Amino acid sequence: MHNFDFLNPTKLIFGNGTIGRIGEEIGSGGAGKVLLIAGGGSIKKNGVYDQTAVSLRNAGIEWAESWGVRPNPVLSKVREMIDLARKEKVDAILAVGGGSVIDSGKAVAAGMYIDDVWKAFESRDQLVEKAMPLYSILTISATGTEMNRYAVITNEDQNKKWNIAGPALYPKVSIVDPSVQITLPWNQTVNGALDAMSHVMEYYFMGGRSETTLALDESLFRTIVKVTDEIKSRPDDYESRANLAWAATLALNGISGAGQGGGDWASHGIEHAISALNPEVAHGAGLGVVFPAWITYCQDADPELFKRWAGNVWGEENTESGVSAMKGKIREWGSPTTLAELGVKRSQIREIAVNAVEFGLTGVLKQLTEDDIVDLLSLASPG
Ligand code: NZQ
Ligand code: ZN
Repeated sequence: MHNFDFLNPTKLIFGNGTIGRIGEEIGSGGAGKVLLIAGGGSIKKNGVYDQTAVSLRNAGIEWAESWGVRPNPVLSKVREMIDLARKEKVDAILAVGGGSVIDSGKAVAAGMYIDDVWKAFESRDQLVEKAMPLYSILTISATGTEMNRYAVITNEDQNKKWNIAGPALYPKVSIVDPSVQITLPWNQTVNGALDAMSHVMEYYFMGGRSETTLALDESLFRTIVKVTDEIKSRPDDYESRANLAWAATLALNGISGAGQGGGDWASHGIEHAISALNPEVAHGAGLGVVFPAWITYCQDADPELFKRWAGNVWGEENTESGVSAMKGKIREWGSPTTLAELGVKRSQIREIAVNAVEFGLTGVLKQLTEDDIVDLLSLASPG
């Protein structure tokens, strides 16, 4: 087991009917006015916005609003929201939505204290130490951003989907009410499950050999598959939604990687390049194509570990049949397993590889070169 520090300062409020607590939490944190940021309108349709507004009003919290954060959120919107937050003189940010909205909230919170927020993304080794307090209400379980220190934003002029990290980016309080995820379209539920499964795998396939963490990760992975199957047949089942939500938070809040040594993250680096160049590709769907190809390509780096994963997670004899089982499950869930199904052309593979190498999230278990990424993605582009 590797040495590790574990710190997670986010207060997580989890469960049915908890959104009404947001006003009181913000008030006791000392803020009097927030910038409420949101996406394309799902929170208006499912009542989350109304619950939030009532709670803020009851607690005497003032707010300004910014709507229109899109999936694979962009830098220009973050800049617009920083200007608004300054103009409105808010003293905290409240992000209500999915990972795209919360990540935008984190970037706004960090951007309040620097002249150009993109500089934080460019200075890769510098952690974000100062940010405005951020509160979140999560409406889709996927990224773990509700309880972690990362934010991913696309600079759409430069086709760079890059991240920032740092202790100041943990939300002060996040509310996760799984009942509001019943309104998710099936494909978004699957995107979330695939992202959470991928976070577990990024840590698992590090070769860190922390038995406690490996066993925990196998359990998380199996649970995500099991409850996603349950949601497929009963989309409004609260218990299944709640279990997927909790597993997704645990998949990227530091616990699933403790003692494993930081994670591999090459599949994420490659997927971020894919969705930087193809903004219509959802992160989880992209990972569903990239990760099986990554396993096939990298299995020789630690054959025993991949075989263990196939056996303990899928009940399969070897890595190859484990990968087949995983692709079968992704297909059964109606999600893509090839680049073509994702809407990505074979002719774009080199450009994706160049983009991924530029960011530098190219793996630890096996450090991938540009040519490796081309070969790996060719596995996901048969014919
Ligand atoms: O925009 P609205 O109208 O709210 O609709 C959203 C959006 O279209 C919809 N939605 C969310 N909750 C809903 C709902 N529809 C109905 N009912 C609900 N309850 O779902 C769509 C997708 O939302 P989005 O926020 O984009 O999804 P997700 O949470 O998967 O976030 C993806 C983004 O997070 C990044 C990804 O790369 C991507 O940009 N990631 C962030 C990470 C982090 N901060 O730690 C780690 C991840 O690996 C990932 O990179
Ligand atoms: Zn992810």
